[in-house]
Amino acid sequence: MKSFYITTAIDYANGSPHLGHAYEKVLTDVVARFRRAKGDSVYFLTGLDEHGQKVQQSAEKQGVSPQEFCDSVAEEFQALCRNLNISNDDYIRTTEARHKQVVRDFQQSLFDKGEIYKGPYNGFYSARQEQFLQERDRNEDGSWPEIFGEVSEISEENYYFKLSQYQDWLIGYLQENEDFIFPRFRQKQVLEFLKEPLNDLCISRPKSRLAWGISLPFDEDYVTYVWFDALINYLTASGFMEGDTSRWPADYHVIGKDIMVPAHSIYWPIMLKACDIPLPKHLLVHGFWTSSGAKMSKSTGNTVNPLDLADKFGVDSFRYFVTREMNVGQDSDFSEEQFLRRYTSELANDLGNLVSRLQNMVTRYTDGVIPAASIEDDEEKDLKTLWAETSGKVVHLAEGFQFHQALEETFQFIRSINRYVEQRAPWKLAKSEEAGDRALLETSLAVIAEGLRLASIVLGPVMPSTSDKIQRLLGSEPVQTFSDNLVWDFRLEGKSVGEKTILFPRPEK
Ligand code: MSP
Repeated sequence: MKSFYITTAIDYANGSPHLGHAYEKVLTDVVARFRRAKGDSVYFLTGLDEHGQKVQQSAEKQGVSPQEFCDSVAEEFQALCRNLNISNDDYIRTTEARHKQVVRDFQQSLFDKGEIYKGPYNGFYSARQEQFLQERDRNEDGSWPEIFGEVSEISEENYYFKLSQYQDWLIGYLQENEDFIFPRFRQKQVLEFLKEPLNDLCISRPKSRLAWGISLPFDEDYVTYVWFDALINYLTASGFMEGDTSRWPADYHVIGKDIMVPAHSIYWPIMLKACDIPLPKHLLVHGFWTSSGAKMSKSTGNTVNPLDLADKFGVDSFRYFVTREMNVGQDSDFSEEQFLRRYTSELANDLGNLVSRLQNMVTRYTDGVIPAASIEDDEEKDLKTLWAETSGKVVHLAEGFQFHQALEETFQFIRSINRYVEQRAPWKLAKSEEAGDRALLETSLAVIAEGLRLASIVLGPVMPSTSDKIQRLLGSEPVQTFSDNLVWDFRLEGKSVGEKTILFPRPEK
């Protein structure tokens, strides 16, 4: 069976991880865990983009070799993955031998097919973006936009990939495969970009100017342009070039909107097409986080450190917040006030309190054992019906990457359990001497436990440890799949609840 193969972008090794990197990993992890829960065999790849001028310069600044520099950055990014409980199956670094080999094989194959030629370049170059500039890149007043940094005029020989001859093919492909990019409006942006003629892509840099890269197999005086090298990581890790077809083509490349055009939507499909390799099935393009309304940047010092937040509020709270707050595809703003609002009202009150209340009541009224349900009045029926609707919606929304909505539905269900607790008021039933009240008390505890069990399972992809914890507190072994585990069947009857735990403690000031 072919795996569901999903990848993140590989992060640049020239800085420390921030909220944008963390978000992309969490989003991809949520998709991966959701697919596993649905029974797919998933292969999840993330990694680090280590070549290029910026890395070489950052290493020089610190007085270490580029490889040493990358090794220490790799540790930081890998720690980010571990700390955020990211379930990646592989971590690729573009300086690994397996990757260099695949890049060189790929280039040699294009070269042998006559898709690469040598030619002169006279024009402008941005070292910061490692990019040759064109007239259309200028501002209206003729100056160069700030993002290019220092722009210099150069004249040199380089190798070019015949990108332009695939323009019409790509336009046709995108028109035929309307769901290549999620969300769809992004695909229109690519088609808009393709209205202008494409230039061939310069895929080399002379070693005299940049040494830190993968040598071209057919001319050792040059290294590979960093994007050409980086994109191939997805193929390297799949094993496709060595004949393993169990993963490639990728099902989704998850990327931010800034690297869709031209890298992922133009260069990458054309590179593969030219090499006769199947295209990835989809790109999943997410938006950008701003921080309290402003663009995050190192110079203004407003980058959000995801690990500080995870330390302070717990990893799952961080994962919950970014998934709940961002409508995949749109941009979103991060502020500590909004984080605290959701933490307090949704996680600590709606969910955390409900779990401790149930534990308290079961401990006091039924000797710590979840009782049987014997009554089904309207209140019980309503909750059960609501669950059937909710679980259907949650799965459907998650399949369409509407995770923020899926969480909203789940929390509406959790709030309905809370209302049920108030309606039934088990603490009153426990004091009552009336016939039938004992059965109603036991039923209400069983219903609350069942609702919580089910809610905790669908929260699993977003909050894996919280989900496991709740299931254990309800006396059961955590389950890894949805299927019949999402059926309302009171399977907790007779289980003993765990020690009282505060899932979401009040944060220290
Ligand atoms: N190295 C390239 C990607 C090569 S993929 C073959 C790169 N690296 S990056 O470190 O700059 O970005 C990594 C990912 O993080 C990208 O998908 C990017 O869009 C995402 N984000 C970076 N800043 C972001 C935000 N502020 N918000 C959300 N995601 C952002 O590009």
